This record gives sequence, C-alpha cells and structure tokens, in this order.
Amino acid sequence: MIDIKKIREQFPILQQKVNGKPLVYFDNGATSQKPEVVIDAIGNFYKTGNSNIHRGVHTLSRLATEQFEQSRKTIATHFHIKNEQQIIFTSGTTDSINKVAQGLAKHHLKSGDEIILSTYEHHSNILPWQLWAQKNGGVLKVIPLLEDNSLDYVAFENLFSEKTKLVAITHVSNTLGLITNLQKIKELTQKYNVPFLLDGAQSAPHMRIDLNQIEPDFFVCSAHKMYGPTGAGILYLSEKWLGTLPLASTGGGTIKTVTFEKTEYAEGALRFEPGTPHIAGAIGFATAIKFMDEVGMNHLYEHESYLVNHAQKALKQIREVELYGANDHKAGVISFNVKGQHPFDVGTLLDKYGIAVRTGHHCTQPLMQCLGVQGTVRISFAVYNTIEEVDFFIEKLKKVITMLQ
Ligand SMILES: Cc1ncc(COP(=O)(O)O)c(C=O)c1O
Repeated sequence: MIDIKKIREQFPILQQKVNGKPLVYFDNGATSQKPEVVIDAIGNFYKTGNSNIHRGVHTLSRLATEQFEQSRKTIATHFHIKNEQQIIFTSGTTDSINKVAQGLAKHHLKSGDEIILSTYEHHSNILPWQLWAQKNGGVLKVIPLLEDNSLDYVAFENLFSEKTKLVAITHVSNTLGLITNLQKIKELTQKYNVPFLLDGAQSAPHMRIDLNQIEPDFFVCSAHKMYGPTGAGILYLSEKWLGTLPLASTGGGTIKTVTFEKTEYAEGALRFEPGTPHIAGAIGFATAIKFMDEVGMNHLYEHESYLVNHAQKALKQIREVELYGANDHKAGVISFNVKGQHPFDVGTLLDKYGIAVRTGHHCTQPLMQCLGVQGTVRISFAVYNTIEEVDFFIEKLKKVITMLQ
C-alpha cells in the first residue's frame, strides 16, 4: 500500500487553491505535476553544478558530465535496458518520433512503402509519417476500431504486405486510456519481419515497462508526463538501429574527428545528440524516474486503476454521461461527454470548483472522427490523486449537469 498523503506532501503545487477551492488536478495526461525532489534537482544543478558537458576538463564540467551520464543509466535501468547507450536524450516524444521518421526516410523508406498506424494515434505519431508519405509517395494504413473501441487485431494482420516497412503505434491511447495488445503487436511484427515504434508517452507514466522483454525497435516518451520537467524525453533505439539509424540532424558533440573533407562520428547515444543538450532536464528526468521507482510502478498502476474503476463506475450511474472506451483494463485516463453539451462548457464549469480537466480533441482528431464527436472531457490520474477527489469531482459534475440544463 502506498501512503498517498505522504506522496501529496511532496508536491508543492497541490497545496494551493484554484478559484478559492483546493486544486483537484485531473489533467495529468497533458502534463503531470512535479515533486519537490525534481524541482530541487533542477534548481541545484543551476545553483551549484551548472557547466557544459563532455568536453571540459575543469571540475564543474566533469561533475555535470557525470550527472548527465548517470541520468542516462538510471533511465536505462528503469526500462530494463543493460546498455544505456540505447537511451538518447531528446526534447520529448514528438522530437523522438521526428528523429526516427527523418532518419528512416533517408535509407529505409522508399516510394510506395507502407507504414501501419492505429486509429488511436496522437497527431505527433501521424504527422511525421504523413509528411514523409506525401513527399515520397508513401502509404499510411490504419488499424481500425472494433465496436468497443479496442483495436481490431484481425484487420491489423490484413494490413501487412511486402511493402510494409514500419508499424508505429501507441502503447496507451491518450484519449481513451485503452492499452494496446503488445503481445499481438510483437507477434505480428516478428511474423512479417517489420520494425515497430512504440509511443510510450501515455504508458510510461502509469506502468512498469520492460523494453528488454517488449523488444521494440524504437520506444519514445516524455519526462513531463512522468513527474519530470518539460522539454526532456528519450528515444530508445534497439541495438540494430543504434548502429544504423541515419542522423536526422548533426553538429557539435556527435563526432570523433572532423576535417573539412570528412567526419568520423561518435558511437552510441552521443551520435544522436547534437549541440548542448537539456542537461538539467536529463537530471530532472532521472530524479523523477527515481521518485516513481521509490513509489513502485506496480503500486502506482494499482492505485491509478482503483481510481479509474471507481470513477468509471460512478460515471456509468449518471444518465446524462456518455463514456468512451469504458473498459476495466485501462491506464489512468477516462473520456466522456455530457449528452447534448459542449465539452468546453463542462470543463469551464468544473474549473470553477478547482477541478482541472482537459477538453477538446486531445490531438487525436482522426479518433474523434471515428467516435463521431468533436471532442470529449478527459480526466487523467497520477499517483497523488485520491478517491476523495474522484468523489468530489462526481458530485460537482452532477451540479454542472444540472446547471447546463
Ligand atoms: C500518446 C502521445 N503521443 C505523443 C504525445 C506528444 O508528447 P509531447 O508533447 O511531450 O512531445 C502525447 C502528448 O500528449 C501523447 O499523449
């Protein structure tokens, strides 16, 4: 059992009131709040440790380099990766996917090739592939939904052809919270010998992820959804791609030697990290990972599942509420609408009670089209949320519904 009261005390932002009411923060899918340890780690770096990394011989530079590289190791260990060089620091999920798309576009992808995505995808995992497809005569194929809004894995298998060059798929739908079937994805991509990219932006904050076991070719996630800072994230590359993925961009820090005629590039992660990286961001990210590991990913998942199931059960009792993808196997996210009402109105009125929810299309417009709606109200949980907050939200939602009628 985890002590939620003790966890909440570690988050300064949760101690304040919003609109005169205690903050109920249910917008964790957009970004989570940060514990004091993360805020301190970033502040302390700038207060006492700030220096550029990798090329300095002076003490501060050596210490900053050590902290940065140690952060890489901490993150690799969390994701069950032995070789920390497979962890590349980026500015977040979007940046990581773009790096893969631009890299693959150089050699791996050719005109007429096909990429399989799912209906769940966030725009960040559609646009880079669409850009490539439009410029190069590529084709995007999309895994459709079944009646219950889960992915249709039979249709998925039928999408494979000899031209399929990549499957790029989210681990958890940021709109519905539904979890994709990794076993099936792994089985099919291995059967057809197609690499796969796993978008972990919405799974890494909520569940234990063992990349050694999942064996994706690429895995991406963002620190800011995992109790860490904005502007930091990772791109994990399998051993094969670490040595072969063409560079999306290049510059200082990525090389062994440079002459005007030719460059010999560094090996490992550094090859993909041109310029001065977000050093404090990497350190803050590793500190956030340690915070999550101390809570324990299994405890965290159990607690959030408890909140999801409790909230879903209560929402199902409200006649005016339409739920999307209501299923017991979910990760931290619920989407719904109040029938006949615009989600913005519901969100705006909940805000008056200090309840922060997200409304709109959640950067998943194709999924919205599939659901036949313009947008939804989304509540998304983190480890510091409580059953009492869920009950307060349900009580105020009922009031909001009455006000809107
Ligand atoms: C599933 C998914 N993929 C990608 C992203 C983009 O993440 P970021 O804005 O941190 O780059 C998000 C953000 O909400 C997401 O939920």
